[in-house]
Amino acid sequence: MIKKITCIGAGYVGGPTMAVMALKNPQIRFHIVDINQARIDAWMSDTLPVYEPGLDEIVQHTRGKNLFFSTDVEGAIKEADMIFISVNTPTKEYGVGKGRAADLKYVELCARQIAEFSDRDKIVVEKSTLPVRTAEAIKTILDSSGRDLNFQVLSNPEFLAEGTAVRDLLEPDRVLIGGEQTDAGKSAIDALVQVYNAWIPRERIITTNVWSSELSKLTANAFLAQRISSINAISALCEATGADVEEVAYAIGTDSRIGPKFLKSSVGFGGSCFQKDILNLVYLCDYFGLPEVARYWEQVIIMNDYQKSRFGSKIISTLFNTVSGKKIAFLGWAFKKDTNDTRESAAIYVADQLLEDQGRVSVYDPQVSPERMYMDVDGLGTRSEAENRDRLTMLDDVYEACKDAHAIAILTEWDEFPGLDWQRIYDNMLKPAFIFDGRLILDKKTLEKIGFQVYSIGKG
Ligand code: NAD
Ligand code: UGA
Repeated sequence: MIKKITCIGAGYVGGPTMAVMALKNPQIRFHIVDINQARIDAWMSDTLPVYEPGLDEIVQHTRGKNLFFSTDVEGAIKEADMIFISVNTPTKEYGVGKGRAADLKYVELCARQIAEFSDRDKIVVEKSTLPVRTAEAIKTILDSSGRDLNFQVLSNPEFLAEGTAVRDLLEPDRVLIGGEQTDAGKSAIDALVQVYNAWIPRERIITTNVWSSELSKLTANAFLAQRISSINAISALCEATGADVEEVAYAIGTDSRIGPKFLKSSVGFGGSCFQKDILNLVYLCDYFGLPEVARYWEQVIIMNDYQKSRFGSKIISTLFNTVSGKKIAFLGWAFKKDTNDTRESAAIYVADQLLEDQGRVSVYDPQVSPERMYMDVDGLGTRSEAENRDRLTMLDDVYEACKDAHAIAILTEWDEFPGLDWQRIYDNMLKPAFIFDGRLILDKKTLEKIGFQVYSIGKG
């Protein structure tokens, strides 16, 4: 019987996942720990570090009752019956596998800490997205603690999407749990099944062996990203031929074998996971001697990079082949709506392209802070910090951001954008006034009637 659960990592996954589990399992005590004091402080405050619709209410309901936050990793490991590892697994930026393999140093550190601080048997759950066979490495570290303890390692990948995390957690299509096919492994799986079964019907909880579970997570993300790259590839052909990518997407999506989801053409997918997980898959395929398979998946990333740079190039070529000294307003910086997360957002790369052509970019985003935006562009290392601050600005008034601009680019599909006073925006822009809709959220015809020259991805 599980009484105490610890989660290491209070990020976009650890925080919301444990909050929902705590809501649905009031008899279990949940403790989320992180090495980042500022993040823990934010989880304890009125302004949570993660913006997700519906999350505030759940945290308010559970925090201090059966959900606790702290930086006491040692204490949290000692007290727990079950420990989730939910730390970041970014792409490796050094050495072997640089630029492709997952950097597992944070996960490894967690395993070492669990081995060091545990004084009784524990179930350890991989919640982070990990390369297939990582559980083996975790188990090896845990078993080398020198004490006679029994650790069971489960794989329980998370499928939530940011912006809809609470809904995805409350009503998941499925929950996946992989474990060793031994008696001890099966009883560990059962213990985790019971936690989820508090609100998820048993038939939606899939149990597999560990390797299938680990690989299913990478495969799910690869398939989802592949659909976006596929429709984006077609968007370029639509523009060349006069076809309309939304009509094509609708026409193919009504085939029940294809289905309508994830066929929205865009300026390119962003987020912390699609690119890193596919790069990791590519690395694994090469590692296991499957270069043809590796090149197949690599193309999903190549197409996504092409879509981002194609959008930036379209802005430059339309504005008479240079944006030097011109003001371009960006509506949106987050990688998708309803999140404050900007990791790998297409906006970062399009801005970089325009700034390199000496353009000036003024950004409006309802959830992203200027500090975050500057960290994103500084992180590219393309220009000095002073240059970035000189040419890139963020305003908290959308009309100010668009004032005197030569063009507007839609980078995030925030719900508020279609309902803006577009006539007022047009009146205050330089003419000819251009709009580049990278999210297909604006009505082209209405805007053209106002006087805008409109480019919508995949619409010629
Ligand atoms: P994140 O960067 O938001 O959070 C990770 C947290 O772990 C950070 O706050 C960091 O300080 C903390 N941490 C790192 N090492 C630690 C240690 N040794 N002890 C204590 N804390 C430590 O990352 P995230 O977006 O929550 O992603 C976590 C994992 O979940 C990744 O593997 C990711 O691929 C996967 N995932 C993410 C999403 C998503 O939508 N973001 C969805 C599904 C799966
Ligand atoms: C994605 C997956 O959807 C989740 O199932 C998974 O758990 C998660 O990655 C992860 O492993 O981190 P997320 O990246 O949060 O979730 O958000 P998505 O809704 O998948 O969007 C990713 C990017 O694709 C966004 O930039 C979005 O705008 C773009 N997108 C999405 C499109 O361009 N077109 C679409 O049709 C759908």
